[in-house]
Amino acid sequence: MNTARSRNSSVSEASPETAELRVRLAEAEETLRAIRSGEVDAVMVAGKQGNQVFTLEGAEHAYRMLIEFMNEGALEMTPDKTILYANKCFARMVKHPLEQVIGSSFRRFLSTEDQTMFRRFLKQADGSGAKIQVIIIAGDGSRMPAQISIRPLPRNGFKHAPFGVVVTDMTDARRNEELLRALTRRVVQAQEEERGRVAFELHDNITQLLCAVVFRSQALADNLPGRNGSSKREAIKLRDMLGKTADEVERISTNLGPSLLGNIGLGAVLRAARTEFANRTGLLVRLTCAGLTARMPAEIELALYRIFQESLRNVEKHARARHVTVLFKQQDSFVQMVINDDGVGFDPDSHPARRKRIGGLGLLSMRERATYVGGSLKIDSNRRAGTHIELRIPLT
Ligand SMILES: Nc1ncnc2c1ncn2[C@@H]1O[C@H](COP(=O)(O)OP(=O)(O)O)[C@@H](O)[C@H]1O
Ligand SMILES: [Mg+2]
Repeated sequence: MNTARSRNSSVSEASPETAELRVRLAEAEETLRAIRSGEVDAVMVAGKQGNQVFTLEGAEHAYRMLIEFMNEGALEMTPDKTILYANKCFARMVKHPLEQVIGSSFRRFLSTEDQTMFRRFLKQADGSGAKIQVIIIAGDGSRMPAQISIRPLPRNGFKHAPFGVVVTDMTDARRNEELLRALTRRVVQAQEEERGRVAFELHDNITQLLCAVVFRSQALADNLPGRNGSSKREAIKLRDMLGKTADEVERISTNLGPSLLGNIGLGAVLRAARTEFANRTGLLVRLTCAGLTARMPAEIELALYRIFQESLRNVEKHARARHVTVLFKQQDSFVQMVINDDGVGFDPDSHPARRKRIGGLGLLSMRERATYVGGSLKIDSNRRAGTHIELRIPLT
C-alpha cells in the first residue's frame, strides 16, 4: 500500500515560525499532489493516539490509470450516445482534442451506414456485451477500420444504464486479412491456370498418343493368326487396357479443364459429373436442377462447377456417406447450390492448425471462389450428422 505521511496539527503544538510553516505547507502540497495523481491510496496520520491509516476514496484510481494508458480507445457513453468519458487513446484515434470529444455524440465518428447499424446494435447489446466492425471517421476525414466492443455498465444513479465501449484499431488486422485473401485468390487462379494447361496437354498429346496405340494394338490383334491363340488373347487384353487408360486420361482431362462448360453448359456438365461420380464410387447422388436454363456469366458457372467438384471429391475422400443430394436453384436474382451428405461430418470451425490432419486447399478455395463472384458459402457439419454446404451467388 502506498501511504503519505501527514502530521496532525494541533494548535498547542503549532510553531509560530514562518520557516516551519513553509516546510509544512510544502509537505501538505506534496501530499495533495500525490493523492491527486494517484501515487498514494492511503494516508497515515500521526496523532496523539499514534498513527492512523485512512484509505482514500477512489480506490478505482488504478483502473482509471489502466484505462488512461491502455492502447485501445475506451469511453463511457449514455444510451443516446453522448460521450461521458473518453481516454486519450480514443482522442488520438479520432484526431480531436479530448475536451472536444467528451460531451459530444459518438455518432459523429461513424459513417451514415454505420450510424444506422450502430443504433440497432446498441438496442441489442445485452449484459454479456457485443462486438461489431465499423469505420471510425477522424477529425481530418481519415477512416480507420475498428472493432467496437460494448457492454452496459452499472447504473450508478443514471436513469438508463450507460455503456462501456472499447474501440480497437483494426488497420493492421484488415491489411493482413486482405493480403491473405489476395494470396488465396492468386493460389486459386494459379490452380485454375495449371489445371487448364495440364488438361490441354493431356487431351492434345497423351490422349492422341493413347488413341494411336489403341488403334495399333487393335491392328496387332487382328493380324495375329488363329481365333483364340494365347498371343491373340493377350493382344486383345492389351487393346482393352489401353482403351480404358485412354478413357481414364480423358476423364481426368475433362475434370481438370473448364472447356466442357463452355461447350455444353452447366446443367449437362453437372449431370455428366454426377453420373460419372456415382458409377465410379457406387454412391447415390440425387441431383435436382430447378430453373437452370439461362446461361450465367462464365466465372459464376466455373465457381459453381468447381465447388460442386470439390464437394463431391470431399464426400468421396472423407465423408463415408451413403447418400448425397445436390440441389440447384436458379432465379432471376440469384443462384443457389445446396450439397448434403449423410457421412461422418467434421468441425468446420476448428482451426486447420489444430486438426489432426491439416487439410488441403479444398475448403479454402471453395470459399475464395464463392467470394470472388460476390457469393457466400455456408458450411454446417458435425460429427455423425453429415455435411451441409450452401452456396448462394447474386446474379445482378
Ligand atoms: N464432406 C465432408 N465430410 C467429412 N469431412 C470433410 C468433408 N469435407 C471436408 N472434410 C474435412 O475437412 C478437411 C479439409 O478439407 P479440404 O480443405 O477439402 O482438404 P482435403 O480434402 O485435401 O483434406 C478434410 O481433411 C476433412 O477432414
Ligand atoms: Mg478436399
